[in-house]
Amino acid sequence: MSRKSVIPPSPSAEAYGIDEDQGDVFTKDDPLSLFLEWFDLAKKKEPNDANAMALATVDETGLPNVRMVLLKDIDATGLAFFTNLESAKGRELLGNPKAALCFHWKSIRRAVRFRGAVAPVAAQDADAYFATRARDAQIGAWASAQSRPMEGRFALEKEIAKAAARFGLGKVPRPPHWSGFRLSPIEIEFWVNRPFRLHDRLQFRRVGDGWARSRLYP
Ligand SMILES: Cc1cc2nc3c(=O)[nH]c(=O)nc-3n(C[C@H](O)[C@H](O)[C@H](O)COP(=O)(O)O)c2cc1C
Repeated sequence: MSRKSVIPPSPSAEAYGIDEDQGDVFTKDDPLSLFLEWFDLAKKKEPNDANAMALATVDETGLPNVRMVLLKDIDATGLAFFTNLESAKGRELLGNPKAALCFHWKSIRRAVRFRGAVAPVAAQDADAYFATRARDAQIGAWASAQSRPMEGRFALEKEIAKAAARFGLGKVPRPPHWSGFRLSPIEIEFWVNRPFRLHDRLQFRRVGDGWARSRLYP
């Protein structure tokens, strides 16, 4: 396989030299506060979807799977996202309720990753978030058998029309197969780009009610 044509070359020493040195970015002792500070910056700098994160799960054979989802809530108890419970990720999480998440904000050259147990969100939290979605997205949640084979786009459009007719002008309730999960982190790592790939990493590990901090080699 030829790498030359498709993969950007490694930066030259000159290019590394002009990489912005971001100074001390590990400005908080608590990982949630630090995440919120970085996330605020990412929201200002990213062209879109600063809340997009890769979600890694494993299937029943132990084979990993990964896809993007959107962070929809974060607090001291964890990070929440929403999806179809019958999708691949839904089935994988219900079978093995552990996962990892990774944000990569290219515009600020930073990444944050989380690992931990996952649990379904409370029904009232899922209802509250579902109610904030655009009506067409609510109808889409009824129409899409997410991750299952689809004959063609027309099959989806038919399901959308059926769901739209079913609810008419009334409120669209949350489908029973659509909800959220919350990952409660036991490990959180902050990564920031530094010149010459001598990046900085700060890891937090849950110990009792607190966090143990370690710097890691890049
Ligand atoms: C930026 C981005 C954000 C996404 N957010 C979500 C999300 O919040 N929930 C979701 O179910 N799918 C989301 N998707 C689609 C998923 O990546 C994926 O295609 C879908 O959920 C099916 O995944 P699965 O077959 O592994 O379950 C997003 C995709 C992208 C690229």
